[in-house]
Amino acid sequence: MIKKSYNKNLHKLNTFGMRVRATLYIEYDSVEDLTAIQWDKLPQPVLNIGEGSNLLFTKDFPGTILHSGIRGIEVLEERSCGDDLFVRAGAGVIMDDFCDWAARKEVWGPENLSAIPGTVGAAPVQNIGAYGVEAADIIDSVECFEMATGKIVTFSAAQCEFGYRDSFFKHNRGRYIVTHVTFHLYGDFRPVLEYGKLKEEVERNAEIYKADTDPYKPIYQTRFVPPMPVSPMLVRETVKIIRENKLPSPSKKGSAGSFFKNPVVDAAVFRAVENTAAGLKGGTVAVPHYDLPDGSVKIPAAWLIEFCGFKGRTCGGAAVWEKQPLVIVNDTGRATPRDIVALENTIIDKIRDTFGIELSPEVDHI
Ligand code: EPU
Repeated sequence: MIKKSYNKNLHKLNTFGMRVRATLYIEYDSVEDLTAIQWDKLPQPVLNIGEGSNLLFTKDFPGTILHSGIRGIEVLEERSCGDDLFVRAGAGVIMDDFCDWAARKEVWGPENLSAIPGTVGAAPVQNIGAYGVEAADIIDSVECFEMATGKIVTFSAAQCEFGYRDSFFKHNRGRYIVTHVTFHLYGDFRPVLEYGKLKEEVERNAEIYKADTDPYKPIYQTRFVPPMPVSPMLVRETVKIIRENKLPSPSKKGSAGSFFKNPVVDAAVFRAVENTAAGLKGGTVAVPHYDLPDGSVKIPAAWLIEFCGFKGRTCGGAAVWEKQPLVIVNDTGRATPRDIVALENTIIDKIRDTFGIELSPEVDHI
């Protein structure tokens, strides 16, 4: 069913909590609804959003905001075989509900993506990622409604052109609306625990929950006893704890998760960063980094931002999150887009001046 509202306040429809309005707001819950829309009559531009968890409205939106309520998670029995499970989810399903569904079924794949705000439909657009797993690793195909033709087009994972927080859809905004995503999940034991201290934390929790006798705890292990105590639910719960300790709770502080991407630089630029940091600190500095297969180096933007002294820095109602400076929060609940953009620009300028590195925002500016 289609629901329309005019001059809609978007305050509760973007996780940053920006108080902006859209000329028209449309909620729909099926592909048939999309087919029935008279696209040429809508105020332009048209923007489809999920939970609004990765965008910053910089002003009132002059066009139409669409919001998907397409739900449902179904196992594609005809394609699933042995340990391979193909699961089709509606774009409006909350991504964390999908992670929970998979963990309860004890299948591997999305557990590391637990507690990322947003919907299934947004996952391929942004190629969401956390703790060593990206949406691209588990996406089989993506079904889209093509606005110009009204047709449903299915993209294979290769056609989605996934990159780091990047996809074909990001470069073709306004052309497609994701309606369903099919995931490829696995029944055989395949946790991904190489990121940071995840393995250590999972093992520590496994010990705690082994000792726990309450059978109603979601992470209580009954089937997996040592030497294989690790389950998708245990990894999911561990990831949730790590996130809770670092990232602002979406219900308490508005934010859009990581505000910037981690920059990828040439090895020579990385050495220059080490030298600059050493010069400024007056001694060797261990700059955290990840060497990529092509010889380039990924530097955590959080480290650069912390090094430049921004932890906790405020600008009007906006602030840099103390526990993870990659996140900008709507600290007072009354931050304006102008506050956030001013803080963003101050950070970008300082990091450019200090290290010659250009940070790019991960969050879409609308
Ligand atoms: N760091 C600091 N100071 C801090 C926090 C982190 O220097 O206060 C440095 C440390 O060196 C740390 C490194 O940053 O080892 C990495 O930190 P973290 O593991 O928190 O990951 P991240 O690179 O900052 C990325 C994603 C997050 C995702 C985490 C975990 C991006 C832009 N962000 O952050 O994704 O949850 O890894 O996988 O790639 C999001 O996209 O919204 C998001 C939260």
